[in-house]
Amino acid sequence: MNILLVGGGGREHAIIRKLKENPAVGTVYALPGNGGIARDAECVNIAATDIDGIVDFARNHPVDYAVVAPDDPLVMGCVDALEAIGIPCFGPRANAAIIEGSKAFSKNLMKKYGIPTAAYETFSNPNEALRYLESAPVPIVVKADGLALGKGVIIAETREEAKQAVVDMMCNGKFGKSGTTVVIEEFLTGPEVSVLAFTDGETVKPMISSMDHKRAGDNDTGLNTGGMGTVAPNPYYTEDVADRCMREIFIPTIRAMKAEGRPFKGCLYFGLMITPSGPKVIEYNCRFGDPETQVVLPLLDSDLLTVMRATTDGTLKDTPVVSKDGAAACVIMASKGYPLHYEKGFEITIPEDVWPYVYVAGAKEQDGKLLTSGGRVLGVTAVRNTLEEALEAAYAMASRIHFDNAYCRSDIGARALRARENR
Ligand code: AMP
Ligand code: GLY
Repeated sequence: MNILLVGGGGREHAIIRKLKENPAVGTVYALPGNGGIARDAECVNIAATDIDGIVDFARNHPVDYAVVAPDDPLVMGCVDALEAIGIPCFGPRANAAIIEGSKAFSKNLMKKYGIPTAAYETFSNPNEALRYLESAPVPIVVKADGLALGKGVIIAETREEAKQAVVDMMCNGKFGKSGTTVVIEEFLTGPEVSVLAFTDGETVKPMISSMDHKRAGDNDTGLNTGGMGTVAPNPYYTEDVADRCMREIFIPTIRAMKAEGRPFKGCLYFGLMITPSGPKVIEYNCRFGDPETQVVLPLLDSDLLTVMRATTDGTLKDTPVVSKDGAAACVIMASKGYPLHYEKGFEITIPEDVWPYVYVAGAKEQDGKLLTSGGRVLGVTAVRNTLEEALEAAYAMASRIHFDNAYCRSDIGARALRARENR
Protein backbone atom coordinates (compact mmCIF):
# COMPACT_ATOMS: atom_id res chain seq x y z
CA MET A 1 0.00 0.00 0.00
CA ASN A 2 1.42 3.37 -1.06
CA ILE A 3 0.66 6.41 1.03
CA LEU A 4 0.64 10.09 0.17
CA LEU A 5 1.35 12.24 3.21
CA VAL A 6 0.80 15.97 3.11
CA GLY A 7 3.12 17.99 5.36
CA GLY A 8 6.77 18.39 6.19
CA GLY A 9 7.55 18.82 9.89
CA GLY A 10 8.50 16.77 12.93
CA ARG A 11 4.93 15.61 13.38
CA GLU A 12 4.86 14.27 9.83
CA HIS A 13 8.19 12.51 10.37
CA ALA A 14 6.74 10.78 13.45
CA ILE A 15 3.61 9.76 11.54
CA ILE A 16 5.67 8.30 8.69
CA ARG A 17 7.92 6.30 11.01
CA LYS A 18 4.90 4.87 12.81
CA LEU A 19 3.09 4.03 9.58
CA LYS A 20 6.15 2.20 8.33
CA GLU A 21 6.04 -0.19 11.28
CA ASN A 22 3.31 -1.91 9.27
CA PRO A 23 4.99 -4.11 6.63
CA ALA A 24 2.05 -3.55 4.27
CA VAL A 25 3.16 0.06 3.82
CA GLY A 26 5.10 0.46 0.58
CA THR A 27 6.19 3.83 -0.72
CA VAL A 28 5.37 6.90 1.32
CA TYR A 29 5.32 10.11 -0.72
CA ALA A 30 5.81 13.16 1.50
CA LEU A 31 4.58 16.48 0.03
CA PRO A 32 6.79 18.37 0.61
CA GLY A 33 8.56 16.45 3.43
CA ASN A 34 12.01 17.77 4.36
CA GLY A 35 15.68 16.85 4.28
CA GLY A 36 15.36 14.51 7.26
CA ILE A 37 12.08 12.92 6.24
CA ALA A 38 13.84 12.07 2.97
CA ARG A 39 15.55 9.21 4.83
CA ASP A 40 12.17 7.57 5.44
CA ALA A 41 10.00 8.68 2.53
CA GLU A 42 10.09 9.91 -1.03
CA CYS A 43 9.89 13.69 -0.73
CA VAL A 44 8.17 15.60 -3.52
CA ASN A 45 8.56 19.34 -3.78
CA ILE A 46 4.88 20.28 -3.70
CA ALA A 47 3.75 22.65 -0.95
CA ALA A 48 1.21 21.40 1.61
CA THR A 49 -1.09 24.26 0.61
CA ASP A 50 -0.88 23.60 -3.13
CA ILE A 51 -4.11 21.61 -3.27
CA ASP A 52 -4.20 21.46 -7.08
CA GLY A 53 -0.59 20.28 -7.14
CA ILE A 54 -1.32 17.58 -4.54
CA VAL A 55 -4.37 16.32 -6.43
CA ASP A 56 -2.42 16.31 -9.67
CA PHE A 57 0.37 14.28 -8.10
CA ALA A 58 -2.10 11.81 -6.58
CA ARG A 59 -3.80 11.34 -9.92
CA ASN A 60 -0.53 10.43 -11.61
CA HIS A 61 0.97 8.13 -8.98
CA PRO A 62 -0.06 4.83 -7.45
CA VAL A 63 -1.54 6.24 -4.23
CA ASP A 64 -3.82 4.00 -2.16
CA TYR A 65 -4.36 6.18 0.88
CA ALA A 66 -3.63 9.77 1.86
CA VAL A 67 -2.89 11.36 5.22
CA VAL A 68 -3.29 15.13 5.47
CA ALA A 69 -1.47 16.29 8.59
CA PRO A 70 -1.28 20.14 8.80
CA ASP A 71 -4.12 22.52 9.57
CA ASP A 72 -3.90 24.74 6.47
CA PRO A 73 -4.57 22.10 3.80
CA LEU A 74 -7.30 20.54 5.97
CA VAL A 75 -9.07 23.88 6.36
CA MET A 76 -8.58 24.54 2.63
CA GLY A 77 -10.35 21.29 1.70
CA CYS A 78 -7.45 19.01 0.76
CA VAL A 79 -9.33 15.92 1.99
CA ASP A 80 -12.42 16.88 -0.01
CA ALA A 81 -10.28 17.35 -3.12
CA LEU A 82 -8.51 14.00 -2.78
CA GLU A 83 -11.76 12.17 -2.03
CA ALA A 84 -13.23 13.71 -5.15
CA ILE A 85 -10.70 11.78 -7.24
CA GLY A 86 -11.41 8.59 -5.33
CA ILE A 87 -8.54 8.52 -2.83
CA PRO A 88 -9.52 7.55 0.71
CA CYS A 89 -8.04 9.99 3.23
CA PHE A 90 -7.18 10.39 6.87
CA GLY A 91 -8.31 13.77 8.13
CA PRO A 92 -11.45 15.88 8.35
CA ARG A 93 -13.19 17.50 5.42
CA ALA A 94 -13.18 21.30 5.29
CA ASN A 95 -16.63 21.57 6.84
CA ALA A 96 -15.31 19.78 9.96
CA ALA A 97 -11.79 21.27 9.95
CA ILE A 98 -13.50 24.58 10.67
CA ILE A 99 -13.45 23.46 14.32
CA GLU A 100 -9.84 24.71 14.23
CA GLY A 101 -10.18 27.12 11.29
CA SER A 102 -12.56 29.43 13.11
CA LYS A 103 -12.44 30.08 16.83
CA ALA A 104 -15.81 31.81 16.58
CA PHE A 105 -17.25 28.58 15.14
CA SER A 106 -15.75 26.38 17.85
CA LYS A 107 -16.76 28.72 20.67
CA ASN A 108 -20.34 28.91 19.37
CA LEU A 109 -20.42 25.12 19.03
CA MET A 110 -19.35 24.69 22.65
CA LYS A 111 -21.90 27.23 23.84
CA LYS A 112 -24.72 25.62 21.85
CA TYR A 113 -23.95 22.10 23.10
CA GLY A 114 -22.96 22.92 26.67
CA ILE A 115 -19.32 21.88 26.33
CA PRO A 116 -17.21 23.47 29.10
CA THR A 117 -14.99 26.32 27.88
CA ALA A 118 -14.03 29.87 28.89
CA ALA A 119 -16.88 32.40 28.77
CA TYR A 120 -16.49 34.63 25.70
CA GLU A 121 -17.87 37.18 23.27
CA THR A 122 -17.24 37.37 19.52
CA PHE A 123 -16.74 40.68 17.71
CA SER A 124 -16.45 41.69 14.09
CA ASN A 125 -16.70 45.42 14.83
CA PRO A 126 -13.62 46.92 16.53
CA ASN A 127 -15.59 49.68 18.28
CA GLU A 128 -17.84 47.15 19.94
CA ALA A 129 -14.84 45.10 21.02
CA LEU A 130 -13.17 48.19 22.49
CA ARG A 131 -16.36 49.20 24.29
CA TYR A 132 -16.68 45.70 25.76
CA LEU A 133 -13.13 45.94 27.07
CA GLU A 134 -13.94 49.14 29.03
CA SER A 135 -15.64 47.08 31.71
CA ALA A 136 -14.32 43.55 31.18
CA PRO A 137 -12.24 42.01 33.98
CA VAL A 138 -8.48 41.53 33.46
CA PRO A 139 -6.43 39.51 32.74
CA ILE A 140 -8.40 38.75 29.60
CA VAL A 141 -7.65 36.79 26.44
CA VAL A 142 -7.94 38.17 22.89
CA LYS A 143 -7.88 35.65 20.04
CA ALA A 144 -7.84 36.12 16.28
CA ASP A 145 -10.67 34.09 14.77
CA GLY A 146 -8.68 32.30 12.06
CA LEU A 147 -5.44 30.37 11.73
CA ALA A 148 -2.42 32.35 12.94
CA LEU A 149 0.37 29.80 13.43
CA GLY A 150 -0.42 29.61 17.14
CA LYS A 151 0.46 33.29 17.53
CA GLY A 152 -3.00 34.83 17.39
CA VAL A 153 -3.65 34.57 21.13
CA ILE A 154 -2.86 37.50 23.41
CA ILE A 155 -3.12 37.10 27.17
CA ALA A 156 -3.62 40.73 28.23
CA GLU A 157 -2.75 41.64 31.81
CA THR A 158 -4.26 45.12 31.46
CA ARG A 159 -7.17 46.70 29.57
CA GLU A 160 -4.68 48.78 27.58
CA GLU A 161 -2.89 45.66 26.34
CA ALA A 162 -6.20 44.05 25.42
CA LYS A 163 -7.28 47.14 23.48
CA GLN A 164 -3.95 47.26 21.69
CA ALA A 165 -4.42 43.62 20.67
CA VAL A 166 -7.87 44.41 19.28
CA VAL A 167 -6.50 47.39 17.32
CA ASP A 168 -3.57 45.32 16.00
CA MET A 169 -5.82 42.49 14.86
CA MET A 170 -8.94 44.29 13.69
CA CYS A 171 -7.62 47.64 12.45
CA ASN A 172 -3.95 47.06 11.59
CA GLY A 173 -4.39 43.65 9.99
CA LYS A 174 -1.71 41.98 12.11
CA PHE A 175 -2.98 38.49 11.26
CA GLY A 176 -4.54 39.42 7.93
CA LYS A 177 -8.02 38.06 7.40
CA SER A 178 -7.63 35.78 10.42
CA GLY A 179 -7.99 38.79 12.70
CA THR A 180 -11.00 40.58 11.21
CA THR A 181 -13.14 38.75 13.75
CA VAL A 182 -11.89 38.34 17.33
CA VAL A 183 -12.96 36.25 20.29
CA ILE A 184 -12.48 37.87 23.69
CA GLU A 185 -12.59 35.36 26.49
CA GLU A 186 -12.30 34.79 30.19
CA PHE A 187 -8.80 34.06 31.53
CA LEU A 188 -8.67 30.54 32.94
CA THR A 189 -6.08 29.04 35.24
CA GLY A 190 -4.83 25.51 35.76
CA PRO A 191 -2.49 23.00 34.15
CA GLU A 192 -2.86 22.31 30.44
CA VAL A 193 -3.26 18.86 28.92
CA SER A 194 -3.23 17.87 25.24
CA VAL A 195 -5.34 14.88 24.24
CA LEU A 196 -5.19 13.60 20.67
CA ALA A 197 -8.13 11.39 19.84
CA PHE A 198 -9.07 9.30 16.82
CA THR A 199 -12.64 9.60 15.67
CA ASP A 200 -14.70 8.34 12.75
CA GLY A 201 -17.48 10.80 13.43
CA GLU A 202 -19.35 8.40 15.75
CA THR A 203 -16.81 6.85 18.09
CA VAL A 204 -13.96 8.67 19.80
CA LYS A 205 -10.84 6.91 21.09
CA PRO A 206 -8.15 9.02 22.75
CA MET A 207 -4.47 8.23 22.71
CA ILE A 208 -2.22 8.82 25.70
CA SER A 209 -2.32 12.35 27.18
CA SER A 210 0.62 14.70 26.80
CA MET A 211 2.04 18.03 27.94
CA ASP A 212 3.47 20.65 25.59
CA HIS A 213 5.98 23.35 26.56
CA LYS A 214 4.94 26.34 24.48
CA ARG A 215 7.18 29.11 25.79
CA ALA A 216 10.64 29.60 24.32
CA GLY A 217 12.52 29.88 27.63
CA ASP A 218 13.10 27.79 30.73
CA ASN A 219 10.48 28.04 33.50
CA ASP A 220 7.86 28.97 30.91
CA THR A 221 9.32 32.38 30.15
CA GLY A 222 9.72 34.15 26.81
CA LEU A 223 7.57 34.09 23.73
CA ASN A 224 5.05 31.49 22.70
CA THR A 225 6.42 29.04 20.15
CA GLY A 226 5.03 26.11 18.21
CA GLY A 227 6.22 23.93 21.12
CA MET A 228 9.70 23.33 22.60
CA GLY A 229 9.16 19.83 23.92
CA THR A 230 6.59 17.36 25.16
CA VAL A 231 6.14 14.56 27.63
CA ALA A 232 3.56 11.78 27.84
CA PRO A 233 1.59 10.79 29.79
CA ASN A 234 0.55 14.07 31.42
CA PRO A 235 0.43 13.61 35.22
CA TYR A 236 -2.46 16.06 35.56
CA TYR A 237 -4.63 13.83 33.41
CA THR A 238 -5.76 11.46 36.13
CA GLU A 239 -8.30 8.70 35.51
CA ASP A 240 -10.90 10.85 37.13
CA VAL A 241 -10.16 13.79 34.82
CA ALA A 242 -10.09 11.44 31.83
CA ASP A 243 -13.55 10.08 32.67
CA ARG A 244 -14.93 13.57 33.00
CA CYS A 245 -13.35 14.67 29.73
CA MET A 246 -14.84 11.69 27.91
CA ARG A 247 -18.33 12.39 29.28
CA GLU A 248 -18.36 16.19 29.28
CA ILE A 249 -16.11 17.06 26.33
CA PHE A 250 -15.06 14.30 23.91
CA ILE A 251 -18.37 12.54 23.28
CA PRO A 252 -20.42 15.77 23.30
CA THR A 253 -18.03 17.31 20.76
CA ILE A 254 -18.25 14.38 18.35
CA ARG A 255 -22.05 14.36 18.68
CA ALA A 256 -22.24 18.12 18.22
CA MET A 257 -20.23 18.00 15.00
CA LYS A 258 -22.43 15.21 13.69
CA ALA A 259 -25.60 17.08 14.64
CA GLU A 260 -24.29 20.13 12.76
CA GLY A 261 -23.89 18.02 9.64
CA ARG A 262 -20.10 18.23 9.96
CA PRO A 263 -19.03 14.75 11.11
CA PHE A 264 -15.39 14.88 12.15
CA LYS A 265 -13.10 12.09 10.94
CA GLY A 266 -9.41 11.93 11.70
CA CYS A 267 -7.49 13.10 14.74
CA LEU A 268 -9.15 15.68 16.93
CA TYR A 269 -6.83 17.50 19.29
CA PHE A 270 -8.34 18.67 22.56
CA GLY A 271 -6.33 21.46 24.20
CA LEU A 272 -7.64 21.30 27.76
CA MET A 273 -7.16 23.28 30.92
CA ILE A 274 -7.84 21.54 34.22
CA THR A 275 -9.42 24.47 36.06
CA PRO A 276 -10.55 24.49 39.70
CA SER A 277 -14.09 23.93 38.39
CA GLY A 278 -13.16 21.03 36.11
CA PRO A 279 -11.66 20.43 32.67
CA LYS A 280 -12.42 23.02 30.00
CA VAL A 281 -11.57 23.29 26.31
CA ILE A 282 -8.97 25.94 25.48
CA GLU A 283 -8.83 25.02 21.82
CA TYR A 284 -9.60 22.33 19.31
CA ASN A 285 -7.17 21.45 16.55
CA CYS A 286 -8.35 19.46 13.56
CA ARG A 287 -5.15 17.40 13.42
CA PHE A 288 -2.29 15.77 15.30
CA GLY A 289 -0.40 18.24 17.50
CA ASP A 290 3.22 19.14 16.95
CA PRO A 291 5.30 18.21 19.00
CA GLU A 292 2.70 16.11 20.89
CA THR A 293 2.70 13.53 18.10
CA GLN A 294 6.40 12.94 18.66
CA VAL A 295 5.65 11.48 22.12
CA VAL A 296 2.14 10.11 21.61
CA LEU A 297 2.79 7.94 18.55
CA PRO A 298 5.92 6.22 19.92
CA LEU A 299 3.70 5.15 22.84
CA LEU A 300 0.91 3.88 20.58
CA ASP A 301 0.82 0.10 20.69
CA SER A 302 -1.85 -0.31 18.00
CA ASP A 303 -1.01 -0.28 14.31
CA LEU A 304 -1.38 3.32 13.11
CA LEU A 305 -2.46 2.51 9.56
CA THR A 306 -5.20 0.16 10.82
CA VAL A 307 -6.55 2.80 13.18
CA MET A 308 -6.36 5.55 10.55
CA ARG A 309 -8.26 3.45 8.03
CA ALA A 310 -10.89 2.68 10.65
CA THR A 311 -11.54 6.42 11.06
CA THR A 312 -12.00 6.68 7.30
CA ASP A 313 -14.21 3.58 7.01
CA GLY A 314 -16.31 4.28 10.10
CA THR A 315 -15.19 1.14 11.93
CA LEU A 316 -13.33 2.71 14.82
CA LYS A 317 -15.79 1.16 17.31
CA ASP A 318 -14.35 -2.27 16.53
CA THR A 319 -10.72 -1.17 16.32
CA PRO A 320 -8.62 -1.06 19.48
CA VAL A 321 -6.52 2.02 20.24
CA VAL A 322 -4.07 0.90 22.89
CA SER A 323 -1.10 2.74 24.38
CA LYS A 324 2.07 1.22 25.78
CA ASP A 325 3.09 1.50 29.40
CA GLY A 326 5.99 3.77 30.19
CA ALA A 327 6.72 7.38 29.36
CA ALA A 328 8.05 9.40 26.47
CA ALA A 329 9.92 12.71 26.31
CA CYS A 330 10.68 14.84 23.26
CA VAL A 331 13.23 17.65 23.38
CA ILE A 332 13.09 20.14 20.52
CA MET A 333 16.37 21.53 19.23
CA ALA A 334 15.70 24.93 17.69
CA SER A 335 17.73 27.65 16.01
CA LYS A 336 18.86 30.32 18.48
CA GLY A 337 16.50 33.29 18.19
CA TYR A 338 13.38 31.26 17.37
CA PRO A 339 10.49 32.20 17.30
CA LEU A 340 11.75 35.58 16.04
CA HIS A 341 14.91 35.94 13.96
CA TYR A 342 17.39 33.15 13.47
CA GLU A 343 20.04 32.09 10.99
CA LYS A 344 19.73 29.03 8.78
CA GLY A 345 22.00 26.85 6.69
CA PHE A 346 24.15 25.25 9.42
CA GLU A 347 25.23 21.66 9.00
CA ILE A 348 23.53 19.17 11.33
CA THR A 349 25.40 16.09 12.51
CA ILE A 350 23.46 13.22 14.03
CA PRO A 351 25.17 10.00 15.19
CA GLU A 352 23.79 6.99 13.32
CA ASP A 353 22.55 5.27 16.51
CA VAL A 354 20.54 8.39 17.45
CA TRP A 355 18.83 8.77 14.06
CA PRO A 356 15.91 6.41 14.75
CA TYR A 357 14.83 8.68 17.64
CA VAL A 358 15.09 11.96 15.73
CA TYR A 359 12.12 13.62 14.06
CA VAL A 360 13.29 16.32 11.69
CA ALA A 361 11.23 19.50 11.45
CA GLY A 362 13.27 22.17 9.65
CA ALA A 363 16.18 20.85 7.61
CA LYS A 364 17.09 20.50 3.97
CA GLU A 365 19.48 18.23 2.18
CA GLN A 366 22.21 19.84 0.12
CA ASP A 367 25.20 18.09 -1.44
CA GLY A 368 24.72 15.11 0.86
CA LYS A 369 24.62 17.29 3.96
CA LEU A 370 21.71 18.08 6.23
CA LEU A 371 21.38 21.83 6.82
CA THR A 372 19.13 23.73 9.22
CA SER A 373 16.27 25.46 7.42
CA GLY A 374 13.76 26.39 10.11
CA GLY A 375 13.16 27.65 13.61
CA ARG A 376 12.40 24.28 15.07
CA VAL A 377 15.06 22.05 13.56
CA LEU A 378 14.36 18.64 15.06
CA GLY A 379 13.04 16.76 18.06
CA VAL A 380 14.60 13.82 19.90
CA THR A 381 12.24 11.36 21.56
CA ALA A 382 13.05 8.71 24.13
CA VAL A 383 10.62 6.09 25.46
CA ARG A 384 11.49 4.48 28.78
CA ASN A 385 9.75 2.91 31.78
CA THR A 386 9.70 6.17 33.72
CA LEU A 387 9.58 9.85 32.80
CA GLU A 388 12.91 10.49 34.59
CA GLU A 389 14.60 7.89 32.42
CA ALA A 390 12.95 9.14 29.26
CA LEU A 391 14.06 12.71 29.94
CA GLU A 392 17.59 11.69 30.74
CA ALA A 393 17.82 9.63 27.57
CA ALA A 394 16.30 12.35 25.37
CA TYR A 395 18.72 14.98 26.69
CA ALA A 396 21.66 12.57 26.38
CA MET A 397 20.83 11.98 22.72
CA ALA A 398 20.29 15.72 22.10
CA SER A 399 23.77 16.43 23.50
CA ARG A 400 25.24 14.26 20.74
CA ILE A 401 23.53 16.17 17.94
CA HIS A 402 25.31 19.27 16.69
CA PHE A 403 24.62 22.35 14.63
CA ASP A 404 25.70 25.96 15.12
CA ASN A 405 23.35 28.14 17.18
CA ALA A 406 21.41 25.13 18.50
CA TYR A 407 19.08 25.94 21.35
CA CYS A 408 16.85 23.79 23.51
CA ARG A 409 15.03 24.32 26.76
CA SER A 410 16.77 22.59 29.66
CA ASP A 411 13.64 21.98 31.73
CA ILE A 412 11.35 19.88 29.53
CA GLY A 413 9.38 17.58 31.83
CA ALA A 414 10.37 19.41 35.03
CA ARG A 415 6.82 20.54 35.65
CA ALA A 416 5.46 17.05 35.07
CA LEU A 417 7.97 15.59 37.52
CA ARG A 418 7.03 18.19 40.15
CA ALA A 419 3.32 17.55 39.63
CA ARG A 420 3.82 13.88 40.25
CA GLU A 421 5.72 14.51 43.47
CA ASN A 422 2.90 16.72 44.74
CA ARG A 423 0.23 14.12 44.23
P1 AMP B 1 -4.67 28.59 21.83
O1 AMP B 1 -3.95 28.89 20.55
O2 AMP B 1 -6.12 28.93 21.83
O3 AMP B 1 -4.37 27.19 22.33
O4 AMP B 1 -3.96 29.45 22.94
C1 AMP B 1 -2.57 29.40 23.13
C2 AMP B 1 -2.25 29.37 24.60
O5 AMP B 1 -2.78 30.53 25.25
C3 AMP B 1 -2.89 28.19 25.34
O6 AMP B 1 -2.12 27.03 25.24
C4 AMP B 1 -2.97 28.72 26.74
O7 AMP B 1 -1.74 28.59 27.40
C5 AMP B 1 -3.26 30.18 26.55
N1 AMP B 1 -4.69 30.46 26.63
C6 AMP B 1 -5.58 30.41 25.63
N2 AMP B 1 -6.82 30.70 26.07
C7 AMP B 1 -6.72 30.93 27.39
C8 AMP B 1 -7.66 31.29 28.42
N3 AMP B 1 -8.95 31.47 28.16
N4 AMP B 1 -7.19 31.44 29.67
C9 AMP B 1 -5.88 31.27 29.94
N5 AMP B 1 -4.95 30.95 29.02
C10 AMP B 1 -5.36 30.78 27.76
N1 GLY C 1 1.45 21.80 20.03
C1 GLY C 1 0.30 22.55 19.76
C2 GLY C 1 -0.25 22.39 18.40
O1 GLY C 1 0.08 21.48 17.67
O2 GLY C 1 -1.09 23.20 18.01
